Amino acid sequence: MEYQIKTIGVLTSGGDAPGMNAALRAITRGAIYNGIKVKAIFRGYKGLIDGDIQEFTTQDVSGIIQRGGTIIRSARCDEFRTPEGRKQAYDTLVKEQIDALIVIGGDGTFTGARMLAQEYNVPVIGVPGTIDNDLWGTDYTIGYDTALNTIMDCVDKLRDTGTSHERVFVVEVMGRDAGFLTLNATIAAGAEAAIIPERATVEEQIEEAIGQGRRKHKNSAILLVQEHAIPGGAQAVAKMIEQRHPEYGTRVTILGHLQRGGSPTAFDRILASQLGGYAIKALLEEQRSIMVGIRDNEIVYVPLSQAIQQKKDIPSDRWNALHMLSI
Ligand code: F6P
Repeated sequence: MEYQIKTIGVLTSGGDAPGMNAALRAITRGAIYNGIKVKAIFRGYKGLIDGDIQEFTTQDVSGIIQRGGTIIRSARCDEFRTPEGRKQAYDTLVKEQIDALIVIGGDGTFTGARMLAQEYNVPVIGVPGTIDNDLWGTDYTIGYDTALNTIMDCVDKLRDTGTSHERVFVVEVMGRDAGFLTLNATIAAGAEAAIIPERATVEEQIEEAIGQGRRKHKNSAILLVQEHAIPGGAQAVAKMIEQRHPEYGTRVTILGHLQRGGSPTAFDRILASQLGGYAIKALLEEQRSIMVGIRDNEIVYVPLSQAIQQKKDIPSDRWNALHMLSI
């Protein structure tokens, strides 16, 4: 028989993502609505180890739905990867009388939560928050849509200079091991190629993008390169282009952390509000060690083990569509 949950802890961890605040708001209000106390843990697992914790009321999450980043801060915490670190974190949970933990983050965040759950039998629920969209079992992660729109806006701007100066732009996009942002931003911005880790066809794509572009009298091209698609990322791709097509002036733009910031889109705010609310519902239904996700517009509960271990692939039809669209 599970004990009754009176107090939850909530944290954001790993790379910040737009919409994390909206999720925090929904979790806080969903919990209080159901008579559960909320303790916000600052700076992710670091704050759990150090006891950097504050009780939250509904007012503490007022006026944050539109804000990017995370008001309770985030961190990547090496200490929590050690058994000693997790023991300290568990001691904090006991001291603070926190009965269950909701973690908002990505793969690394869920891996840590799962270990804590396995070692100390702590009820944990994961809410997917990462711009990378790389968690298996959910069609979307919080922050992905905003980042995608940010990248699209940047590429639209680069297009102006690309066509004016008859240049090739090579744009480096984030994504850790996944190419979702790169592929979909390429389609959305009408760029010529997406070089992604899942489909490593760099040379063919350069030829397709630039060779075919020239045949069609395109005077410029934009290639999006996922940061880890090939060693050296966008710089390496630009070098290859310069060697093969010295007639173009080739320029590199690394979008970097611009992609993580900004006010969340309506899509991310709504997704975060829904998933945050369902995280509380899942706890009340005595779900444990699961991620709340969305699949085909339905909320789903996915075991954390699957969300972390299974590889989410790029949809083939999207990839094929790009080849048709960029001729
Ligand atoms: O997971 C989000 C992400 O922005 C990845 O796309 C990127 O590889 C990584 O985090 C960068 O991490 P950091 O901000 O710690 O340099």
